[in-house]
Amino acid sequence: MADGGIPSFKAADLVIELSSTPKPKRDDPAFGNVFTDHMLTIEWSASEGWQAPLIKPFGNLSLHPACSSLHYAIQLFEGLKVYRGDDNQLRLFRPMLNMSRMSNTAERACLPAFDQSEFLECIRRLVELDQDWVPHSDSGSLYIRPTFLGTEQSLGVKKAANALLYVILCPVGSYYNSEAGCLSLWADPKYTRAWKGGTGNFKMGGNYGCSLFAQYEAADHGCQQVLWLYGEDHQITEAGTMNIFLYWINEDGEEELATPPLDGIILPGVTRQSIMELTRKWGEFKVTERYLTMSQLCSALKQLRVKEVFGSGTACMICPVGHILYQGENLHIPCQDKNSQLASRIAKELMDIQRGRTPSDWTLMV
Ligand code: COI
Repeated sequence: MADGGIPSFKAADLVIELSSTPKPKRDDPAFGNVFTDHMLTIEWSASEGWQAPLIKPFGNLSLHPACSSLHYAIQLFEGLKVYRGDDNQLRLFRPMLNMSRMSNTAERACLPAFDQSEFLECIRRLVELDQDWVPHSDSGSLYIRPTFLGTEQSLGVKKAANALLYVILCPVGSYYNSEAGCLSLWADPKYTRAWKGGTGNFKMGGNYGCSLFAQYEAADHGCQQVLWLYGEDHQITEAGTMNIFLYWINEDGEEELATPPLDGIILPGVTRQSIMELTRKWGEFKVTERYLTMSQLCSALKQLRVKEVFGSGTACMICPVGHILYQGENLHIPCQDKNSQLASRIAKELMDIQRGRTPSDWTLMV
């Protein structure tokens, strides 16, 4: 039993098996293709509970062909990053928000609970061990991918009686090719990413796998990502794998930064939350969680009230949108030079926190 009363593994029981064949390090490779020397695994079974956490050389998993995550997507993941500062210190950005979201997703997936602080400490130890893999460049970071799988060897559709929690690490550069400039989005109500009562507000792999078909249709229309719409009134919900923000002069003539509310179909993004908290602290304009529809956006564009649209997420951080293809019309979104963008100002302030240039309690030292 860990502190907090939840039956859990403990970081103090961590067993470490070192790799005897460390790989050459790479700064800034393409997102998610290169992995570090070690991984963390923690097994659970209904009969025996949690086993001791193990850090071992990075390698393949061995899964039974009837493994429940492979058949019924009893699976979830998280994404967070560790940054190297100018002072060479390593900082995790708001990791407890990821731990808490992961616990919520585990509950929704009927996977077992664990102590969030104990898990974070195990992750911290893994990052500490593979610290030389954290890129030195300002555009690079080490992406942490906690993953949780149902591993029961049974085709019955039921709560998994066996599960595997594991963490892998990859050095990453920018998520999108920065040469590409502002993103283009394909907005068509034909596909739905999430619906009320579904799992769109949880970080489950199935949400992402199901989005691929639409993503390729967006590409057929010459766009880079899907702008996910919802309902008869074509509510704007998310862009690709990102939350979305509209910076505009609203219907009442107020300067406003708006993003859709967490009503069950929006992923509660850590970057999303940080952008709202940061800009509210500035106190320079209204910051709102509110419904936004395509017709409101189209009217605002006609009346030149739109200042910027941008997506946010851990992988890409902040990504300005330049075009939205909607009902056969290519809507041009103002996407000015980098110095005048709100998106760039927010990205810089977040980066200054992540790299330790601005002291903040949002970071946890490794
Ligand atoms: C994120 O940006 O947080 C993501 O989850 C993107 C990931 C699916 C690659």
